[in-house]
Amino acid sequence: MRTSILLSMLVLGSLTTASVFAQKTAVQSIEEYRAMLADGNPSELFEAKGEDLWKQKRGPKNASLEACDLGKGPGVYKGAFVELPRYFADTGRVQDMESRLLTCMQNLQGFDANEIAKTAFGKGEQVNVTALATWLSAESKGMKFNLSQVHPQEKIAYEVGKRLFFQRAGPHDFACASCHGQDNTRIRLQDLPNLTKNPGDGIGFAAWPAYRVSNGQMWGMQQRLNDCYRQQRFPYPGFGSDVTIALGVYLGVNSAGSKSIAPALKR
Ligand code: HEC
Repeated sequence: MRTSILLSMLVLGSLTTASVFAQKTAVQSIEEYRAMLADGNPSELFEAKGEDLWKQKRGPKNASLEACDLGKGPGVYKGAFVELPRYFADTGRVQDMESRLLTCMQNLQGFDANEIAKTAFGKGEQVNVTALATWLSAESKGMKFNLSQVHPQEKIAYEVGKRLFFQRAGPHDFACASCHGQDNTRIRLQDLPNLTKNPGDGIGFAAWPAYRVSNGQMWGMQQRLNDCYRQQRFPYPGFGSDVTIALGVYLGVNSAGSKSIAPALKR
């Protein structure tokens, strides 16, 4: 009798300890893991590469990107990232950082922008676009998002982005809003930011490009959106497409006033 009580107490005791311990370790270890990694964000390597690529003479025209206009005039890159996507008169389009880089690579260096847009993430010139976007985002680190909503095309892009965000379809009838439309939700241990309002500093739009520790890859916003479309079981609308850019405008305008921590470090 005594032994069995003792035994059950022991079992109960160890079960409680185990579950409390498991809860603690799950949440805590993720926090610790982030803090540990923050000391040496590998994105610095991509930043260095991006800065190099900006200055290097490359492509069929053997030219650098130093005259690239990211919205603040040719060659001005400080603060450009937190104002993108924006309308560009020369292309007649609203463009984000990555699609604008393609324009500059084509016009200044003679690369084929369509070819690069069709290239898979992590391959060929796509790797260089990511490195460039990483460096350029770092040049606006700590600055607040401030997207223009003055040009009619910018307003249209916001409205289109908003509709796309709430558009449910596909085999699971998912929208972006299904996963990102409420506060305090998570999938497994990943926090899902509410992107319908200002998610805050370093979250959502204010964090990408980011280095993803889980797969050791540097991802720009276009790849982030690509992966969310995959999670949504939608076909990918294409690199730098009007769809992904409109979503960028919606998310970016919602982030107004949030400080960019890009390039961030993500799980
Ligand atoms: C099935 C759920 C799901 C859907 C639908 C979904 N996402 Fe996500 N999204 C996630 C998950 C999970 C993460 C976090 C991934 C990680 O930690 O690696 C994420 C991360 C993000 C982030 C980065 C957040 C941050 O702070 O790092 C953005 C921005 C984002 N999603 C936008 C979108 C957009 C826009 C759509 C619609 C095209 C969308 N998502 C659809 C699950 C989803």
